[in-house]
Amino acid sequence: MQLFDVYPLYDVTPIKAKGVYVWDKNGTKYLDLYGGHAVISIGHAHPAYLKRISVQLNNIGFYSNAIQNPLQKEVAEKLGAISGCDDYQLFLCNSGAEANENALKLASFATGRPRVIAFKNAFHGRTSAAVVATDNQNIVAPINAQQQVTFLEFGDIEGLKVELQKEDVCAVIFESIQGVGGLDEPSTTFIQTTASLCKSHGTKLIADEVQSGFGRTGDFFAFQKHGIVPDIISIAKGMGNGFPVGGILIHPSIEAKYGMLGTTFGGNHLACAATLAVLEVIENESLMPHAKRMESYFIKKAKQLPQLKKIKGRGLMLGLEFDFEVGKLRKKLIYEHHIFTGGSSNKKLLRILPPLSIQNKHIDQFFDALELAMVNTAV
Ligand SMILES: Cc1ncc(COP(=O)(O)O)c(C=O)c1O
Repeated sequence: MQLFDVYPLYDVTPIKAKGVYVWDKNGTKYLDLYGGHAVISIGHAHPAYLKRISVQLNNIGFYSNAIQNPLQKEVAEKLGAISGCDDYQLFLCNSGAEANENALKLASFATGRPRVIAFKNAFHGRTSAAVVATDNQNIVAPINAQQQVTFLEFGDIEGLKVELQKEDVCAVIFESIQGVGGLDEPSTTFIQTTASLCKSHGTKLIADEVQSGFGRTGDFFAFQKHGIVPDIISIAKGMGNGFPVGGILIHPSIEAKYGMLGTTFGGNHLACAATLAVLEVIENESLMPHAKRMESYFIKKAKQLPQLKKIKGRGLMLGLEFDFEVGKLRKKLIYEHHIFTGGSSNKKLLRILPPLSIQNKHIDQFFDALELAMVNTAV
């Protein structure tokens, strides 16, 4: 059988990883500044993570959501404490798209309304409602077209007022920092006004923290910088450090009903063990303040770069915008300097999404390589 060919692949075959490094089948060592797309939060093969998952696997790896699973309660408690969202309720699922799908569905259940507001350049996943709330027509199939989503400019308060006044909108979904879209961030005024407009029109505010959550920006959630209280917060990626797990945090004002949401695999024992290990390491190794320190160091180094247009993002969700497309540069970084970086829908943006445990010396290695790779690359 052939694989269904949907991914344009780099010719690298990783077979081992540790901390911020990945090794390929030829033994070549790569610096991982991509984190498998913002997924590796505490570092590859962290000993505490390996231990928690292997102990759990030796006990019980999976059983259905029809039985008691105290690990889910442990995750909820720990996540509530570390994020400061301890009054929220937790529903666990398996991926970012599924988290947003459940978030949108829940907002619709709670309000009885069908329409969603999303923003230009947003990415929320590839499933039914999530994909329609994603600003990319190429990945929306005719079967998805039944979903009602209106896109606004990220920052368009007047447009938002007009749409919310129609009172048919169940949810406004937003990323505090757009990941796939290219690290654009709205102002605090826009976010706070959005939150209060949603409240006055009975619309649920969904903060998509799938990429920016779990400490990546130096705060546990990126929206926390703006001092708002979303109705639903979606999480995935860094949550499992590579183990597929996602979830939504649900404000106490939304009431649960049996059968409203559900999943076979979501919140299984292994997923909970992985999440607990991630939370413990983030706390024990103070990875959130560390991410802020690494951001400062990165920005200091970036400012010395010639040809740089803009530094974007926060914490360890960073980007360097050039006045040329970075595809060739990223290839050079991988094949000649053995460094993984990320791209985005902004073709001129090089993205940096490393494990949160990255050190100054890795940032030095990146900038030394970048300077060399940029020679003759800017075409
Ligand atoms: C902000 C955001 N939301 C949702 C998703 C979808 O997550 P998944 O690929 O786990 O379905 C992504 C993936 O990149 C994302 O960046």
